[in-house]
Amino acid sequence: MPLSIIPQPVSIRYGEGFFQCPGLPLLKGDECFHEEIQLAAGQLRQDWTGCPVFFDREKKPAHYQEVNCQKEELPDGVGNTRSEAYRLCITKDAVTVKAAAGAGAYHGLQTFRQLVLSEYRDGGVSPEHGITLPCCEITDYPRFSWRGFMLDSARHFYSLPFIKRLIDVLSLHHINRFHWHLTDDQGWRLPVEEYPLLTEIGSRRQERRLPGMPYSGGFYREDEIRELVDYAASRHIEVIPEVDLPGHASAILASYPGFGCTGGPYRVEERTGILENVLCAGSGRIFDLAAGVFNALARLFPSSYVHIGGDEVRFDNWKACPKCKRRLSELGLKRAEELQSWITLRLVNMLAERGKTAIGWDEVLEDSMQFKLPKETVVMSWRGSEGGKRASALGHPVIMCPNTGGCYLDYKHTDDAEEPGQAFVISPVAQSYSMDPVTPEMSAEEAARILGGQCNLWSELIYAGKIAEYMIFPRLCAIAEALWTPREGKDFEDFARRLPVHQKRLDSLGLLQYRGPLQ
Ligand code: ACM
Ligand code: ZN
Repeated sequence: MPLSIIPQPVSIRYGEGFFQCPGLPLLKGDECFHEEIQLAAGQLRQDWTGCPVFFDREKKPAHYQEVNCQKEELPDGVGNTRSEAYRLCITKDAVTVKAAAGAGAYHGLQTFRQLVLSEYRDGGVSPEHGITLPCCEITDYPRFSWRGFMLDSARHFYSLPFIKRLIDVLSLHHINRFHWHLTDDQGWRLPVEEYPLLTEIGSRRQERRLPGMPYSGGFYREDEIRELVDYAASRHIEVIPEVDLPGHASAILASYPGFGCTGGPYRVEERTGILENVLCAGSGRIFDLAAGVFNALARLFPSSYVHIGGDEVRFDNWKACPKCKRRLSELGLKRAEELQSWITLRLVNMLAERGKTAIGWDEVLEDSMQFKLPKETVVMSWRGSEGGKRASALGHPVIMCPNTGGCYLDYKHTDDAEEPGQAFVISPVAQSYSMDPVTPEMSAEEAARILGGQCNLWSELIYAGKIAEYMIFPRLCAIAEALWTPREGKDFEDFARRLPVHQKRLDSLGLLQYRGPLQ
C-alpha cells in the first residue's frame, strides 16, 4: 500500500522491508537543526499520547530506533526552493531527514509526523504495536514559495490557543504564510499606542444574532501577538498582518468619528456586507492614523510584508463630501473612485519608509492610471484570477486566492441546506484541489511573477472555532497540495484515495472535519 502523505511529495522511491520501532523513535541530529528537532519531538510526544516515549539518550532501550536530522547541500533541481527542500530516507535501521536549511528540516519532520500519525488507532496505540513504516526515499520541495492561509479574526474573534493549534496543523501541511485579517467593520483587534480607542471602542460590538447583547469580541495584546509570531516562526510560518484601509472602516469610525466624511454617528457594525463607512479622503489626518498603525505593525511583525486591504471600497460618501470634493479638484481628478489609488499609493510609500512591502486586494489596481503603484506592490487576486493575471502583466508579484477557484473556505462544501457557510455559493473539495495559481493564458514571464496562492476563511458566519475547523478541513489539505506538489504530480483520484488516511490523522489531533462528497 503506497504512503498517503498530503501534500503529495515530489518523489517517493520504495525499497525493501520495513522500519519498525516499538514506540516513538528518538530524534537527534546536527546542532543547526536543534530547534526543529526539539519542536518535532514535542509534537510527536503530544500527538501520540499513551505510548512510551524515550527522548533521553541514557534511558533509551537498545531496540528503540532513531530519527537523524542532517544538514546536506541538496542536489541541483530544487532551485529557489532549496531552503524548503528535504529528503526523508527510511531504512530498516533508521530514519534520516536531510535538508540544507531549517525550513527543509522542519518540512521533512512534518512528513515524518504524518507517517507516525497514520499509526494512530482509535483509542490509542498499544506499546506492542509501535510504528511500522515501509522503507523508502522521499525527495521533496515546493512548487510555490507562497502557500498561505488567511483567518478573519475581525468578524469573529478567535482565541490565541485556537489560532496556535491551527497554525501547528497548517505547518503539518507545509503551509508557510499566515495572513491575519485583524480589522474590519465588525471589529478592530490590533493595539495601537497613539490611538487607544481603536481597541477600547473598536473591538466590541453588539450581538448580531441576539439583539442588544454585547458580543464578547476583544483584541490581541502586544505580548500575545509576539507570542503568536514566534510560535509560527518556529514552525517556519511567516505571519502577515492585514489592516483593511480605506474601506471596511466602521470600527475605526466608531472609535474616531472625525476620520469619516459625515462625522457619524457610527458604530462597530453588527451588519455585514459592503458598507458605506470609509475613511474620508479629504482628511489629511487619516495618514496620521495610518502612521500610528504602521508603526505598531512594524514593531510587532517582523515580516517584510504588510497587507493594506483595499477591497470593496464604497464611493458614495466621497462623492457627496465637501472635503473629498475639494481633494478631488486639488489633485485634478475627475472621478471619486480615483481617490482610492491616491490613498493607496501614499500608504504604499509610508510602508516603504518603514522597510515594508505592501500587499493589496486586487481592487488596488483599479483607477490607478495617475497614481501608478510601484512594481513591487503585491496584488492578491480574489475576484477570480483576472486581477492577478492583469497585475502580473503589469509587472507586480501576485498571490492567487480566487473566490471562484476553491479558495474561499466560508463557502458551503455542498449545496445541502444543512451545510454551514455563505448561502448560494459552494466550493467543493475537488474545486480547491483543481486550483492552479498559474493560469493557461499566462506568459512564462507573467507566470514567474506568481508567488503562489492561499485560501481564506472569512468569518461572518463562522462564530466558533469548531465551525472554522469544519470549513477549513479538508479543503485546506487540497489547497496545500495544489500549492506544493508539481503540476504533473497532481492527481485528484489519488488525492481522494489518500484523504481518508489523512483525515484520520487530523481526527487524532481532535479536529472537526467535513466528510461528505468531494465534488
Ligand atoms: C474580499 O473577499 N473582500 C477580499
Ligand atoms: Zn470625505
